[in-house]
Amino acid sequence: MNVNFSVNGEAASVDVEPDTPLLWIIRDHLGLTGTKFGCGMAMCGACTVHLDGARTFSCQIQARSLEGRDITTIEGLSPEGPEGDVHPIQRAWIDEQVPQCGFCQPGQMMAALDLLNRNPSPTREEIVVHMNSNLCRCGTYPRIVKAIQAAAEEMQA
Ligand code: FES
Ligand code: FES
Repeated sequence: MNVNFSVNGEAASVDVEPDTPLLWIIRDHLGLTGTKFGCGMAMCGACTVHLDGARTFSCQIQARSLEGRDITTIEGLSPEGPEGDVHPIQRAWIDEQVPQCGFCQPGQMMAALDLLNRNPSPTREEIVVHMNSNLCRCGTYPRIVKAIQAAAEEMQA
């Protein structure tokens, strides 16, 4: 089937099987490899993107439900790349030196941004509860909390 949608503000069109996961479309058809495959079972959050402004596991969304939808991936946070304006979430991740292996971190940042978009000043407990959706085998959870608190302050300044 042919499906038309937008990714990071740009129109996109792909011809795929109706049950093709959004994660495959993002990575294999559009070449946006920042979004990661972890479990494929809605259990890890590595594949987190925003769909119509809310976080979602892209491994669980099929092509048949994408027509006209609006998708944001980690690449959409800083369209100019590292040489341009870096999103406050990514700046906080750098400043707090959050990543270890880094594999889970794009999904972590997309989940964090979803929280701050809806709750600009979350408590520590609200951060921990919200981020329960995203696993990190390297155990960077304390630094993720600090980075979200720092990003929240910067985004409100
Ligand atoms: S790859 Fe989608 S939740 Fe793990
Ligand atoms: S930084 Fe390695 S899995 Fe999270």
